[in-house]
Amino acid sequence: MAKSFLALISSPRKNGNSTLLAQKIADGAKAAGARVEFVNLHRMKIKPCTACDKCHAADDRFCIIKDDMQKLYAKVMAADGIIFASPIYFFTMSAQLKLFMDRCYAFGGPSGYALKGKKMAVALTYGDIDPFRSGAVNALRTFQDAFAYLEAPFAGSVYGTGLEPGDILKNKAVMKEAFDLGKSLAG
Ligand SMILES: Cc1cc2nc3c(=O)[nH]c(=O)nc-3n(C[C@H](O)[C@H](O)[C@H](O)COP(=O)(O)O)c2cc1C
Repeated sequence: MAKSFLALISSPRKNGNSTLLAQKIADGAKAAGARVEFVNLHRMKIKPCTACDKCHAADDRFCIIKDDMQKLYAKVMAADGIIFASPIYFFTMSAQLKLFMDRCYAFGGPSGYALKGKKMAVALTYGDIDPFRSGAVNALRTFQDAFAYLEAPFAGSVYGTGLEPGDILKNKAVMKEAFDLGKSLAG
């Protein structure tokens, strides 16, 4: 059966650079026979975690907060992996994506983490020319630590500079890297 991936993008902008990178990863995955569904977290109603810890008390339920995360839990469970895309905002991932990440805490239960084995890929764009100074490396560290905790293999990342929407398209090398990442994700 064809593999399926969920692309969680989080830019509020039309033709956002991070979205364009995620689309290129998706093109690579599709070229390798996978299906990719896109969801823009910016358009989702996701409340912050309230630390009630009810999600960790049983295996058969995720978070008790009734919002768009309920749809996303189902989509994540059905997928073989996730492509995360984010603009760098104030030296880390977007708030839209961080709200989602915190609610991933609910994938845990007495018998472990429900995301175990799902492949993760990351696409980041930023205004600075330096990935360290921009905050992208900071964001990557957060993803790395989160995926290690969730026992979800980190398939790779692509990142580059782009201030105005569409700027990233000029960086042919990173666009190719994104396509290749998609192919290896689905392979
Ligand atoms: C609120 C805000 C905060 C930003 N913070 C940073 C930052 O800390 N470092 C950086 O290099 N660029 C920063 N930028 C620039 C964006 O990361 C850059 O334009 C990026 O390509 C946007 O991605 P998008 O086109 O997918 O929306 C910021 C932009 C905004 C609007």
